[in-house]
Amino acid sequence: MSTLAFEGVSHAYGKLAAVNNVTLTVDDGELVCLLGPSGCGKTTLLRLAAGLEALQQGRILINGQVMADGRRDVPPEERSIGLVFQDFALFPHLNVRDNVTFGLRGINRPTRQKCAQSALKQVAMEDYAEAFPHMLSGGQQQRVALARALAPQPQLMLLDEPFSGLDVQLRQEVRDQALHVLKASGTATVMVTHDPEEAMFMADRIVLMYRGQIQQVGRPEDLYFKPANAFVASFFGDINRIAARVEEGRIRTALGNFDQGAAQEGDLVEVLVRPEAIKLLPSDSPAEAQRASGQVVAAKFLGRSSLIHLSVPDASTGLHLHVRVPGRFLPKDGETFSIGLDTSQAFVFPAKAE
Ligand SMILES: Nc1ncnc2c1ncn2[C@@H]1O[C@H](COP(=O)(O)OP(=O)(O)OP(=O)(O)O)[C@@H](O)[C@H]1O
Ligand SMILES: [Mg+2]
Repeated sequence: MSTLAFEGVSHAYGKLAAVNNVTLTVDDGELVCLLGPSGCGKTTLLRLAAGLEALQQGRILINGQVMADGRRDVPPEERSIGLVFQDFALFPHLNVRDNVTFGLRGINRPTRQKCAQSALKQVAMEDYAEAFPHMLSGGQQQRVALARALAPQPQLMLLDEPFSGLDVQLRQEVRDQALHVLKASGTATVMVTHDPEEAMFMADRIVLMYRGQIQQVGRPEDLYFKPANAFVASFFGDINRIAARVEEGRIRTALGNFDQGAAQEGDLVEVLVRPEAIKLLPSDSPAEAQRASGQVVAAKFLGRSSLIHLSVPDASTGLHLHVRVPGRFLPKDGETFSIGLDTSQAFVFPAKAE
């Protein structure tokens, strides 16, 4: 049985459709990331699951029980959820232990203390039980916030950009810990982020949203290698876009021919090619591997990889391509290369009607 289910959920603020007909399930123990650009409805969807926003349309179930269906609306404190928000605000006047026990009402004091102790242990903060929030680093505070949400052993954890207040290094450390804590607890989790890399790092499945609608749901590699549309393909980083038309059953571009796929004869299409899919070939590579040749316009070292800007001659002003090569590779401006392509990372979609 799924832990959380949205069935045809829509939500509007006035005329703005913030969430549009979302159907989605989150399985037991699964970590699902809601990913998408700012304003696409991620927080609204999470708030609906938490019961912080009154449901307007559809149904929400937790563990098979209807939480909201337009008539009924179970209040947040009765939904067995743990919440962590971006401004996770611990109570400044309570020490770490009391912050964590705060959510554990209705059970006796010794049991409460034991639950808090074990939740703090899960996030490796048991030595800080007496400390006050101002004495902790941002990362430690975030771990306490996670412990506070986990302590009541909720059925479902809902996290809204929980690491966004942390600097890059701390962020990586805390999310690594959070991933292991959440997985070890076995609690189904929905986490909001607008960072594709963070989603890939954390998620069993990613739900990519745009303008209130789900664009694609799947494992990180499904979205990366089998994007459902141009939005999905371009959301995971820099991508080359080549405009073309289907002619005589083929899509001819300056980067060679592509299969027409689902496109019809005469259709305008867009070929999207990831920068790492383009290969700069050694001069002695077989002719059949060479699809085009291009001239280096600029080359930049980016750390783990280098980015080469290439100009490839075409019928008009020339095609400008970005090519990503692992490690340090800095050819001189004006140098010419033959170009190969990993076609599994090139995607054909209908051109946007704009
Ligand atoms: N209380 C509100 N009243 C009116 N409009 C709202 C309200 N909350 C959100 N919106 C609007 O609804 C849309 C979706 O907002 P939401 O906060 O769900 O987006 P988000 O995906 O979480 O974005 P972000 O990544 O910036 O946090 C946005 O256009 C936002 O301006
Ligand atoms: Mg948000």
